[in-house]
Amino acid sequence: MRNPQIRTRRVVEASSILHSLFTKDENHTSRVHRVAFRDSDGAIGRRDFATHWIHRYPAKMFHRIPEAILDALPSDSPLTILDPFCGSGTVLLEGMLRGHNTIGIDINPMARLISRVKTTSIPPDTFRRHINGILKRARKKIRVPQAHETLDFWFRPEARKVLEAILASIAKVKDPTCREFYLVTLSSVIRRSSLADPTVSPPVKLSRTRAKYANKKYRVHLNRALRLNGHGVYELFAEAVRRNTERLAELHSLKPTGKARILSGLAEASTTGLKTGSVDLVITSPPYCGAQKYARSLRLEMLLMGLSVEEIAAIDRKTLGNERVGKRQTEVIAATRLESTNRLIERIKRRNPIRAYMLSDYINYLDRFVAELRRVMKRGGNAFVTFGTNRLAGLRVDCAQHFISLARIHGLKHIATLVDTIPSRGLITIRHETAGTINDERIVWLRR
Ligand SMILES: C[S@@+](CC[C@H](N)C(=O)[O-])C[C@H]1O[C@@H](n2cnc3c(N)ncnc32)[C@H](O)[C@@H]1O
Repeated sequence: MRNPQIRTRRVVEASSILHSLFTKDENHTSRVHRVAFRDSDGAIGRRDFATHWIHRYPAKMFHRIPEAILDALPSDSPLTILDPFCGSGTVLLEGMLRGHNTIGIDINPMARLISRVKTTSIPPDTFRRHINGILKRARKKIRVPQAHETLDFWFRPEARKVLEAILASIAKVKDPTCREFYLVTLSSVIRRSSLADPTVSPPVKLSRTRAKYANKKYRVHLNRALRLNGHGVYELFAEAVRRNTERLAELHSLKPTGKARILSGLAEASTTGLKTGSVDLVITSPPYCGAQKYARSLRLEMLLMGLSVEEIAAIDRKTLGNERVGKRQTEVIAATRLESTNRLIERIKRRNPIRAYMLSDYINYLDRFVAELRRVMKRGGNAFVTFGTNRLAGLRVDCAQHFISLARIHGLKHIATLVDTIPSRGLITIRHETAGTINDERIVWLRR
């Protein structure tokens, strides 16, 4: 269903290809199309729209991708849309704004929390009435923080004690929807209240030594972090509450008729627990192999909000594409069902066994994931899955192509691949030559 206020943010080229392919004779399909989700002048429209920016979750999907797909759908009737790697809920929000019922799954509890809040459409006054109480209680709860090796490294004591006091005060909010709104908002200022460089996704501590050689912006960040006192943290939080309340008010004013349901942590992309044949449309972006650091990027937020180092490590291990591979694990690298993939894994293994293990683990997970997609999708349903083409141990890995081969084995039809160039991605760091970098994004379109 089209929302007139959303239609004004036009997606030019990609949408016209999507339109024509949705209606085209099936024989003309299975092609690669270069598309632009940006306007011809590079513009991307308003990104801070509705609740999209309530949190800067790492590696969010570009909102134009679900917009273009949803606006090109041949029918306006409400669909059941699944995003099994939903992250901060970009697809869910765009889907519910157009009247669809959306379902989100993510292995990371922070992602699920952000997605729930992002898709909550309730009158903003419901939130506003708690803020004074939260700040008042927090001021009374100020305590000297207990020694904590990791937190003491990342936060100045003045900042940490205020963050912890606000957190304790939020815990007293009885209404769970409001409580979650404030938790997400607090988490959105944790990075800026720490001693970590705000411009790098996985936390890196700002250093005086580096500041001597770094650019002016770096020195501004360092000075701001070193000067931040308790009062500054209150101000950051109060301002974030104000902005996020405005965002929720905008979402509410759009009167979304669709809904979003975020499944519990028991669900994951390859075991969704959803009914067979219950999903019309899947739009999703799995993590890239070896180039993703979700748990690490949200480490400070999760630590401050009470998760232990061990719990965060466990989330990281469960995250697809993670880099936590021990040397001993590389002694047994499982084969995949794809001969060409196995040959590539062998070549990577000769250069770097850890990267070879990661790729085999990744492809075997995709195999289980695509089986689950086939199971939950309705006959005739569509799936759009985004991948990056990256390099592992210096060798090119076209994950989209491996995924298409697996999808065909599982009986799904490949309709097309849409390729868009990525100007930059914040989460991906080029640490050494065996790590991955992404140049373009490939959206694989499948049909059941
Ligand atoms: C590229 S991000 C998705 C970003 C999202 N589209 C957004 O706009 O915020 C990939 C997500 O997959 C999640 N993830 C990783 N492994 C998973 C798994 N096995 N099952 C479900 N989610 C997983 C990560 O926690 C991360 O949030």
